[in-house]
Amino acid sequence: MQGNYGEPKITLKSGKGVIVTDTSGKKYLDFLGGIATNVLGHAHPVIVRAVSKQIATLGHVSNFYSHPSGIALAAKLQELTGNNTSRVFFCNSGAEANEAALKLSRKTGRSKIVATIGSFHGRTMGALSLTGQPSKRNPFKPLLKNIKHVAFGDIAQMRKAVSKKTAMVIVEPIMGEAGVIVPPFGYLKELRDICNQHGALLVFDCVQTGIGRTGTWFGYEEEKIRPDVITLAKGLGGGLPVGAMITLGSNSPQFAPGEHGTTFGGNPVAAAAGLAAIEFITKNRLLVSAKSFEKRLKIKLGAVRGVTEVRGRGLLLGIALDGAYAKDLSEKLASRGVLVNAPNEETIRIAPALTVTKVQIDRFIAIFTECMQEVGRG
Ligand SMILES: Cc1ncc(COP(=O)(O)O)c(C=O)c1O
Repeated sequence: MQGNYGEPKITLKSGKGVIVTDTSGKKYLDFLGGIATNVLGHAHPVIVRAVSKQIATLGHVSNFYSHPSGIALAAKLQELTGNNTSRVFFCNSGAEANEAALKLSRKTGRSKIVATIGSFHGRTMGALSLTGQPSKRNPFKPLLKNIKHVAFGDIAQMRKAVSKKTAMVIVEPIMGEAGVIVPPFGYLKELRDICNQHGALLVFDCVQTGIGRTGTWFGYEEEKIRPDVITLAKGLGGGLPVGAMITLGSNSPQFAPGEHGTTFGGNPVAAAAGLAAIEFITKNRLLVSAKSFEKRLKIKLGAVRGVTEVRGRGLLLGIALDGAYAKDLSEKLASRGVLVNAPNEETIRIAPALTVTKVQIDRFIAIFTECMQEVGRG
């Protein structure tokens, strides 16, 4: 394999719920969930059933044809947006969902874009151009022109940057890869106002914050506003690869026949898995439990010596440390059988399956506390 992921120290062989097992037989509590992707954990029976049934019925069709699972997932997403004008384009990943939004924004007749510093929108050239992280961008310049990055959460900078020439403003409701950074309350609503004022599209990249992760279906819902475009992936397929770009309302342009497409996007198997995941989350009220686990984790982890803040919402949390030892701590946690990641030197990110139990949450807290005593300043 290419060296782009470095050399992983662990090879995972199997999983069940929130527990994964490596090739040596060692078990781990998976508190990263494929980075906010395995919403129902590993090998969940409803996903296994939906995928098995679908692959045994109709595995793949070209986009010349529609299929019941794709239609049902699109209808479900439309329902979740609460807007019957929502229209879905299916793709395979977060980067592709953002590429679709970027391409769609050209249909406004404008080409300027405003994004935020520190944001992450994917690795393809368009999505990378939107991404506000120099370390990821610089080796691959030149990127797309006409994209300005402003400080996340700074409404004055955003107001200055957006004009009648702006095609779209793209923002993560909570910046995940940057270390789970939550903007001040009211920021998203102000973005809505600025975009309305200038006729620019407001795009919320909910790739990491979507599908119940933050205790609501989409990461922006706390502010009770509606973007023009939502992008999704990660949790959408319940562990299978599917992404989506959803337009909401009549402000947003639409692709005309032949203007965009992808072979596998919204493939029957991935769509069936996505639908099963959403139905399970709804039926088992997992948005409610995500919120109550958030409270528990914030209180308990916030009290651990060396933790300065627990940021985020629902089951997407960034545990801020009082020093640059997050990478050491994540390795220590892995050696103790807990998987997390360190998006930067001072933050541990957790994004366990929404099916995680209270016992597992408490076990995580206990091991985290012990590891802090060994590695951190706790
Ligand atoms: C907010 C956000 N957007 C886009 C992406 C890119 O998604 P993918 O890796 O599926 O291309 C990610 C991935 O981490 C993400 O967190």
